[in-house]
Amino acid sequence: MTTQADLYADLDLELSWSEHELPERERTKHVHRLHPYLGKFVPQLVEVFLHRYAQPGDLVWDPFAGSGTTLVEANAFGARAAGCDVSAFNCLLARVKTAAYEPAALLADVVRLSAEAPMAVSAPPSEYLERWFAPRAVSELLSFRERIAGTIYLDLWRVVLSRAARSARLARHDDLDFPKAPATSEYECSKHRRTCRPVEEAEKFLRRYVRDAVQRVQEFADVRSDEPVTVIHGDARIVEPPGAVDLVITSPPYPGLIDYHGQHAYAYELIGLERRDEDEIGRGVRGYCEGVAAALRRAAEALVPGGRVVVVVNDSRRLYDRILEEAGLQLEERLLRHVNRRTGRRAGEYFEEVLVARA
Ligand SMILES: C[S@@+](CC[C@H](N)C(=O)[O-])C[C@H]1O[C@@H](n2cnc3c(N)ncnc32)[C@H](O)[C@@H]1O
Repeated sequence: MTTQADLYADLDLELSWSEHELPERERTKHVHRLHPYLGKFVPQLVEVFLHRYAQPGDLVWDPFAGSGTTLVEANAFGARAAGCDVSAFNCLLARVKTAAYEPAALLADVVRLSAEAPMAVSAPPSEYLERWFAPRAVSELLSFRERIAGTIYLDLWRVVLSRAARSARLARHDDLDFPKAPATSEYECSKHRRTCRPVEEAEKFLRRYVRDAVQRVQEFADVRSDEPVTVIHGDARIVEPPGAVDLVITSPPYPGLIDYHGQHAYAYELIGLERRDEDEIGRGVRGYCEGVAAALRRAAEALVPGGRVVVVVNDSRRLYDRILEEAGLQLEERLLRHVNRRTGRRAGEYFEEVLVARA
């Protein structure tokens, strides 16, 4: 049996940062905190492997791109970045994070959004919106959705709309990830350790997040390169990388852990994006190994000779020996990293592995 002492003995210290070494503001720097996303890896992990295995101008591919951490960091490193994800909202987020923004056009949008009085909303709210938001919050969100229609950076404001909707939901503050039922009256909140009330408005979040989004994309502009970024909305088992791949850095979904469409249900509802829940790998254990292996095989087939595949996993079920083999990959290194978890309901000792493989 593996003991705690064994785990620490095997630890890769370069990849195991303490809170002091890697504080939250660094883990969530610039666009990485544009919108909450459960299940992303820390950007510094990507940076380590870019420096180990890539050169500026290389093509870096992430078949499970998620919120776009690999793409953002690969772009800042000076590589060409490409990725795919089956969730349309995640693709939107990754595109918005990696896009270039012209300061004058950004300012014009902000002026337009702050100057215009809320418009009367034409369509009645859907059943979902009526259930999950207070009447005032729904009307403010729908009004913002109408106001952003003529903006230059529509997708950026869609992400802001989604972030504000997440904050304005009738969800308990201590159950924001997957709330089961709306909170309609006061409740004892374990996060804030006091009595909290359901949120009634959205406008204050919209205003705060417009400002925050502008600041974050401008901060990223300071490190952003002009290398191309390609985001493909599709199934990684089928999608071809857009060229010969020099390096893959990815973290596949873990079986049965996170519902990647479900965690942003409010965004699909408000923005009206296509859902492809049935194509999501990891919704259960069945077909999981075959699915991830097929996606990694596609990546392996596109690799240049000597190219590496870096896979971040929580492989407590030891599925990845078989997955890598089925994908035609040979394991070169299995690194163990201590994940520094924040406080709250998901706090606690947690380790993940980084598998480095070659075709
Ligand atoms: C662990 S997350 C990746 C997080 C990413 N590393 C980040 O930092 O944001 C796994 C991602 O795989 C995506 N996914 C699940 N099934 C997929 C499939 N068949 N094709 C492509 N992406 C898929 C999910 O939507 C999710 O965004």
